[in-house]
Amino acid sequence: MSGGIRFDSVSVAYGKQVVLDSLDLTVEQGEVMALLGPSGSGKTTALRAVAGFVRPASGRVFIGDRDVTVLPPHRRGIGMVVQQYALFPHMRVEDNVAFGLKAQKAARVEIPGRVADALEMTGMASYAKRYPRELSGGQQQRVAIARALAIRPGVLLLDEPLSALDAQLRSGMLAELARLHRELPDVSILYVTHDQVEALTLADRIAVMDKARLQDCGTPQELYRRPRNEFTASFVGNANLLPVSVGVGSVSLGGAEVKVDTGEVAAGVSATLCVRPHLVGLGPGPNALTGTVTEVQWRGATHRLYVDVDGQPVKADLRELRTPPSLGEEVTVHFAPEDAVLLAAGVTDG
Ligand SMILES: Nc1ncnc2c1ncn2[C@@H]1O[C@H](COP(=O)(O)OP(=O)(O)OP(=O)(O)O)[C@@H](O)[C@H]1O
Ligand SMILES: [Mg+2]
Repeated sequence: MSGGIRFDSVSVAYGKQVVLDSLDLTVEQGEVMALLGPSGSGKTTALRAVAGFVRPASGRVFIGDRDVTVLPPHRRGIGMVVQQYALFPHMRVEDNVAFGLKAQKAARVEIPGRVADALEMTGMASYAKRYPRELSGGQQQRVAIARALAIRPGVLLLDEPLSALDAQLRSGMLAELARLHRELPDVSILYVTHDQVEALTLADRIAVMDKARLQDCGTPQELYRRPRNEFTASFVGNANLLPVSVGVGSVSLGGAEVKVDTGEVAAGVSATLCVRPHLVGLGPGPNALTGTVTEVQWRGATHRLYVDVDGQPVKADLRELRTPPSLGEEVTVHFAPEDAVLLAAGVTDG
């Protein structure tokens, strides 16, 4: 392996505060791994440990087979894009892009060609002579990416690269990043975001962080369909998280008996049932629940209903209804047994 990333029980502390707690995670060569988690969960810290801007208190960081834990940043072969681009305002685009190459002491004759390649790849070739202040936010973003790519890194670290862009520009850049990755299939990418859509769209796998710890890791589909705990269920996609008591092959939810796969969760305990709102149907069906409509939201393509079932709010996202129910109306909602996941209580890490 020449370009994967491996965290081997990496911990980082500031003073007494542990902000990254024994992270074990491998990004395979050519893989896009999203680090997803709320503010302060340790995402940027993990990235900085790979880049060499923070020294772990314990554990090792590997890039490929190389232990880089104590290597200075410029010797790690890494391209990095931070949240605010950090372009040099007094340098033209081409000089910004050449900066990393010069720092690396690349051969002088090679630099113009490499700069041109990187600008070409990010669609910025015709802007080489401009200054950052003469560019839009999205264009500055491309230059920052070109600068990271110019050194032909084995590892690309992206820290919330799209967070300063508006929603429309963001979805365009997301498609661009996906294209870039197809053009550079050997580059391993660690992509920090707190936006689940970015993570679901771009990543081969998602590592979910909370409170300095890795909570879950898997493909987007795995995490979405089979979350391991309530944190993942609510952070990756929308979820109904309903308190239930577990029986054998079924659970009771308020007064209703509901069929689900109880898996390894023991009968007699309290647990949480996770059902995605878009998998809840309106009207009779399997696992029917009756309740009162407390809110109806029209969202264009869909209606979101909130239904109170024995004191539990159940959210249902339905294709736009011709005649939506009224507030206070009694309705039946249902879901297929295979669309529900039972989460044992108290499993929040591991
Ligand atoms: N240089 C520092 N000195 C002290 N504490 C720090 C330092 N850098 C980060 N921290 C703390 O470490 C914790 C994790 O920070 P980090 O930047 O990794 O979070 P994050 O997940 O990237 O959050 P965000 O989504 O807001 O960027 C936070 O509690 C933060 O206050
Ligand atoms: Mg951060």
